[in-house]
Amino acid sequence: MKYKIAVVAGDGIGPEVTSWATQVLKAVGKKYGHSFEFLPLKAGGCAIDDEAFGEPLPPQTLEAAKSADALLLGAVGGPKWDTLPGDKRPERALLGLRAGLGVFANLRPAALLPQLKDACPLKDEVLKASHHEGKAEFDLLIVRELTGGIYFGERGRGGNAEAAGSDAGAKALAFAFDTEKYSRAEIERVLRVGYEAAMKRRKKLTLVDKANVLESSRFWREVAKDVAPDYPSVTTDYLYVDNAAMQLIRAPGHFDVLVTSNLFGDILSDEASVLTGSIGMLASASIGNGHGLYEPIHGSAPDIAGKNLANPLAAILSAAMMLRYSFSLEKEAVAIENAVNAALDAGLRTADIASRNGNSVHEKIVGTTEMGEAVIKGL
Ligand code: IPM
Ligand code: MG
Repeated sequence: MKYKIAVVAGDGIGPEVTSWATQVLKAVGKKYGHSFEFLPLKAGGCAIDDEAFGEPLPPQTLEAAKSADALLLGAVGGPKWDTLPGDKRPERALLGLRAGLGVFANLRPAALLPQLKDACPLKDEVLKASHHEGKAEFDLLIVRELTGGIYFGERGRGGNAEAAGSDAGAKALAFAFDTEKYSRAEIERVLRVGYEAAMKRRKKLTLVDKANVLESSRFWREVAKDVAPDYPSVTTDYLYVDNAAMQLIRAPGHFDVLVTSNLFGDILSDEASVLTGSIGMLASASIGNGHGLYEPIHGSAPDIAGKNLANPLAAILSAAMMLRYSFSLEKEAVAIENAVNAALDAGLRTADIASRNGNSVHEKIVGTTEMGEAVIKGL
């Protein structure tokens, strides 16, 4: 089969890690007889800086991404563009691509691989206590709503905020707001993605919200109570987000699928990522509306960009998710995951996933290139 993949490498370490993801895809294509065509596109800070565009998300990038079979994204943003107004920042590109493609469900799997146990900040006893077989591992999936809520709700400033810079009286009256608003349809469709995923896993779904305070959260619970009976084999429970943040580090093994809003999912997935050893391990798939966007959950890490230090595994594992979710190439996806495992089994570690306790006799600290090459060799 032939597939056209749009690639937004982006800023910082984005180009390095996506380059390894595309090289791994090429190797998979060669092995299994698929042809992947890559279409490089600009978005983020590099598009702002490019005189031909001068904006974070050029319309032609979105159009090209829509017409491709899937989109691979590295990372966008960096201190260079941090002082730009909100709607001109590189992050707008990410939000515009998500909304423009309509990829409303963001799957962020977080599993602690046995090889990375020593990179996890939790003690063995803590991990074992929450695992159903008493193993120091966990395997959870965060399903984050991605195209609604406070990220896209009405926002603004008032109280004569323009004058606020100059006049002390106006400054005191200035205010700003963002709004969390969800329709039943938006909640229902992401919940169904969560339930479908739970059916293929350990059949447990936790809705994470703040229903003790927020009306929108109470609405999420109502919708969940209507949807849950369609999935009788799945157990549903409900957890406030503050408690969920605590349970994640107290008993991560208790979780299977967590479904939550855009903002809560953003926060909890960073927390979960650290438990897997490093944010450099977490891949993601954003699906919906017939489109798929695949990106590591980490940022552009400008401090380590171009230094052969970035961990390419999250981008490589995102490519595996693309094969699985956009192209239904399960065997090929598993081949990538196995090759990543083999590289870790061989003791290769980028600096971010090195053991925390100095228990690193079996480890070899390598750079981006060595890790990428090892995965390709493993294929
Ligand atoms: C993420 C990132 C983005 C988000 C930023 C870069 C806009 O943190 O994908 O988790 O908040 O969604
Ligand atoms: Mg985030």
